[in-house]
Amino acid sequence: MKAALMAKQFDVKGRLVTAEATGSGNVNDTYLVVFRTTFSEERFIMQRINTRVFPNPAAIMENMKRVTEHVHRRLEAEADTADRIWQLPRVIPTKTGADYAMDGDGGCWRAISLIASAHSYDSIQSPEHAYEAGYVLGQFQRLISDIPTEQLHDTLPGFHITPDYLAKFDQAIATPEGKARLGSSSEARRCHRFIEGRRKWCSVLEDAKAHGELQLRPIHGDPKITNVMIDDATGKGTCIVDLDTVKPGLVHYDFGDCLRSCCNPAGEETTDLSKVYFDTDLCHMIVKGYLAFGKSFLSDADRHYLYDAIRLIAFELGLRFFADFVAGDQYFKIRHEGQNLNRARVQLKLCESIEAREPAIRKILETV
Ligand SMILES: Nc1ncnc2c1ncn2[C@@H]1O[C@H](COP(=O)(O)OP(=O)(O)O)[C@@H](O)[C@H]1O
Ligand SMILES: [Mg+2]
Repeated sequence: MKAALMAKQFDVKGRLVTAEATGSGNVNDTYLVVFRTTFSEERFIMQRINTRVFPNPAAIMENMKRVTEHVHRRLEAEADTADRIWQLPRVIPTKTGADYAMDGDGGCWRAISLIASAHSYDSIQSPEHAYEAGYVLGQFQRLISDIPTEQLHDTLPGFHITPDYLAKFDQAIATPEGKARLGSSSEARRCHRFIEGRRKWCSVLEDAKAHGELQLRPIHGDPKITNVMIDDATGKGTCIVDLDTVKPGLVHYDFGDCLRSCCNPAGEETTDLSKVYFDTDLCHMIVKGYLAFGKSFLSDADRHYLYDAIRLIAFELGLRFFADFVAGDQYFKIRHEGQNLNRARVQLKLCESIEAREPAIRKILETV
């Protein structure tokens, strides 16, 4: 009901037919909206932005406009030489010319053009799909690599700054409740030992940034496979959506997160730890896709830190889940007691598997 009311606020021709929930995102509420005129139909995507996660929607929409307009310009300039038709949603303004509309309850809604005849998937479907995930990310990073970072808002301060998460963890374990949860099971004690063993190393990317080896660049911020749109007709990637997290960062955060989320076939919620491992075949395909574009904008120093990025982003998420478990589950929602501990164990097991496969992963990164 509310979605229908909000859909009518946007500058689209015709009469509203439907506004139905779509997609499997778990941050925003996403709707497919259909408008019709006598002779045609316009379909678009409308989203209620999750203002708990993103308290400043105006900054998000400014980033989104800057990035999409920039990418559209570049795509147009490169259209004749491109290997396929690359797409990216555009922001559809409201009838009053604003980038988003507020409802009576403080909800914030935006409309973007539909990537039609394409779908995203919840998990990697095939080696070709893995290649496309890397290819789409590399292309997106290349297309935004020349946006000056000063022109983008930092919508998530501290995001992927591992030493900051470690400091939060230290605060959590210093409280009496934290100490109790830390010692509550052998699994918790094992996670703690694993983290302690990597305390010094985990500032590796931030140190490289501080030394000037790595530079801030515009990044996507959430390059999961559910955000990669695959063309139904060709099976090839056509764009990456979900631009809420675009901000200045290290391209390594995106690269590491893409591999972390794609190369664990057991998924993030499995309770069978024996099934968690880092699939180097999938890694090979993603890296091949990514470097097809990455080669053009990555420096030698950038490439040097790619292995650390893969290891670190898995470690970091494990640390974040574990810190939240220790702090009493304040950030990540749980459906049962111990869920954040289990999530931490999955990521730390994945990190361990990455470490065990270091020579193979480094070989992929060097020879692709
Ligand atoms: N412009 C679009 N065209 C087609 N599908 C889209 C578009 N934007 C998002 N989607 C679909 O909706 C899903 C959720 O949207 P997303 O922006 O990723 O929200 P969330 O932040 O909740 O993940 C995506 O995974 C994708 O399948
Ligand atoms: Mg998404």
